[in-house]
Amino acid sequence: MNILVVGGGGREHALVWKLAQSPRVTKLWCAPGNAGIGELATCVPIAVTDIAGLQRFAEENAVDLTVVGPEAPLALGLADRFRQRKLAVFGPTQQAARIESSKSFAKDLMLRQRIPTADARIFDRVDDALAHLERCAFPIVIKADGLAQGKGVVVAGTAREARDAVVNMLERRAFGDAGARVVIEEHLRGDELTVMAFTDGSTVLPMAAAQDHKRIGEGETGPNTGGMGAYAPAPLCTPALLDEMVRDVLAPAIEGLSRAGSPFCGILYAGIMVTDGRPRVLEFNARFGDPETQAVLPLLKTDLADVLQAAAEHRLDQVTLEWADRVAVCVVLSSGGYPDSYHKGFPITGLPDAAQDDVAVFHAGTARRDGATVTDGGRVLGVTAWAASFNAARARAYDAAGRIEFEGRYCRPDIAARVLT
Ligand code: AMP
Ligand code: GLY
Repeated sequence: MNILVVGGGGREHALVWKLAQSPRVTKLWCAPGNAGIGELATCVPIAVTDIAGLQRFAEENAVDLTVVGPEAPLALGLADRFRQRKLAVFGPTQQAARIESSKSFAKDLMLRQRIPTADARIFDRVDDALAHLERCAFPIVIKADGLAQGKGVVVAGTAREARDAVVNMLERRAFGDAGARVVIEEHLRGDELTVMAFTDGSTVLPMAAAQDHKRIGEGETGPNTGGMGAYAPAPLCTPALLDEMVRDVLAPAIEGLSRAGSPFCGILYAGIMVTDGRPRVLEFNARFGDPETQAVLPLLKTDLADVLQAAAEHRLDQVTLEWADRVAVCVVLSSGGYPDSYHKGFPITGLPDAAQDDVAVFHAGTARRDGATVTDGGRVLGVTAWAASFNAARARAYDAAGRIEFEGRYCRPDIAARVLT
């Protein structure tokens, strides 16, 4: 089987790494890939948003299955175009991907399907939104409706912060058209969980639940990032809670999309707040999480190519997922200054030293330059280790991460600290 993976971050490296282990995979390409991916797959310089270019590549190279990592190509209709051309693709259509690309669409779906979530109101007009804020208690959460690269959510502690956020989004268009509509919702407290599931539009196969560390600073402080580390399976997620989330969240979402005429094939990602043991949805994504994928896929024993192909062919009911009796911890190494501005192009040393048994060094923002591997993004690497206990996995991940150096290198020291025994 020839597979094309679309994307070039840590998530895609983990996908390529897992797919490369499949005896059924004969050829692997990744567009555009990165330095680490280039050791396992052929990187092709096509941007993830160049849908026509990706389609031509898939046709000219007899690609049997295209696997989409990031949300942007899904929101641009990659899966629609590929399906029209009879090209097999793992990823939802543009309409189904609205569960991520429009937070108001997701809210409406949740209401219709009685999926537990924060109470919310949706506004297009700044005066209506400001009038609503007069009646709200704080903190409150303001969300840009559209895709804003993880920056479109403001947890406002005061009325003033909330008003500023609304004006920034609706009037100043800080996020362009993505902020032409806002969702104002109840602030939820508790512990966050990520639950991702493979789905073909009817069968829902959940993966081990993960926890992500979203803030840049130790102890969950400072601004939000794409994710500074993750671990799985999250001890907070008991088998009963996972069943409950499939029954009350994932399955009704998939059913609601099918009923609306836009069946969802791909990964449905639910960001969940668990309050007093009960789950409520913070957000849906239409793709694998990053860095959650780097913590979850190393634990999957089933051949990933089989699972993705079965989903693309709508026969996921024939698949059972098997998991290693292990836990995994992923520590992200980022560029100094991230998530604000940072410099790129610094040589990375120690990569061969970090490669050990039960460790995978997933590249995110890296590139090859003059024979060296250099930094090329905010999140540079994700070092995942797996073991029988969180204590062992975490120690191994930090030990391997400690062998890698580059100028400005930063990592949070407290990834998975809360689950140590
Ligand atoms: P989202 O992109 O919607 O997941 O929001 C990003 C982050 O903002 C989440 O991971 C939470 O940490 C936080 N957040 C979003 N919605 C809420 C909410 N209703 N209550 C509390 N925190 C929230
Ligand atoms: N780690 C959060 C996300 O993938 O959206």
